[in-house]
Amino acid sequence: MLTPLHRALSGSKRSSPISGNPAMSVSSMCVGQIIVPPCGAFSGGYLECVGYSPIPHRRAMKILHIDSSISGAESVSRKLSLAAVEKLQAEHPAADVVYRDLGAEPLPHLSLADLSDHQLVDEFLSADAIVLGAPMYNFTVPTNLKAWLDRIAIAGKTFQYAANGPSGLAGGRKVIVASTRGGFYGPESPITSYELQDRYLKTFFGFLGVTDLTFVNAEGLGMGPEQKSRAVQDAMTAVENLAV
Ligand SMILES: Cc1cc2nc3c(=O)[nH]c(=O)nc-3n(C[C@H](O)[C@H](O)[C@H](O)COP(=O)(O)O)c2cc1C
Repeated sequence: MLTPLHRALSGSKRSSPISGNPAMSVSSMCVGQIIVPPCGAFSGGYLECVGYSPIPHRRAMKILHIDSSISGAESVSRKLSLAAVEKLQAEHPAADVVYRDLGAEPLPHLSLADLSDHQLVDEFLSADAIVLGAPMYNFTVPTNLKAWLDRIAIAGKTFQYAANGPSGLAGGRKVIVASTRGGFYGPESPITSYELQDRYLKTFFGFLGVTDLTFVNAEGLGMGPEQKSRAVQDAMTAVENLAV
């Protein structure tokens, strides 16, 4: 009998919605004394080939693409996160992409048992780049996204407590956040202090030790069609200019 978590885990892992982009493509050939057909798996920076000694090799970049908007095809954060993944793929054509749609296939709220199920934190740690679609819902991130964040903040895996306090263990990877919202929350806004979306994600990933964190923002999406179209266009330009 599948629990809701197992259904969510098994059902949501699939190819990125990028046409012709298989989720876990492996196309390299082992090199060395003998040329052999494509190997089945990459592991720890070495190609694994039964019967051959490991040969140092740069493994393909792994991208973890996560969406959390409940708005389906109308979603701006989905459009921006997809554009960011395509930008990464253009720079790293051999990259593998794993896609999770937390809006369409939500994870259950965190339970105690989930803290010892490390599938999602291991998936996060295996990624070189993580692209998050993160709309603002009630001043912070959607609960769909929070349920995933709850599963990647695991002591001993992504952070640790030591004598000098906490330290992050998840550095060395790039995180790109496609952040969208209906209103304006910049420094001049009278409600700037209500902004608990980017601020929360900065705090969260900073705590995990991620230093390479980039936000692409589209604000004022609820302020009329002209403002929306301008904000989306500016954010798409920002994605095109990402240094990846
Ligand atoms: C449930 C819900 C709550 C929202 N809460 C806020 C909010 O607190 N502040 C805000 O500026 N916009 C809010 N919005 C507007 C969204 O942030 C905006 O529509 C954004 O485009 C959503 O991203 P998406 O287009 O990827 O779905 C909310 C929208 C929804 C559906």
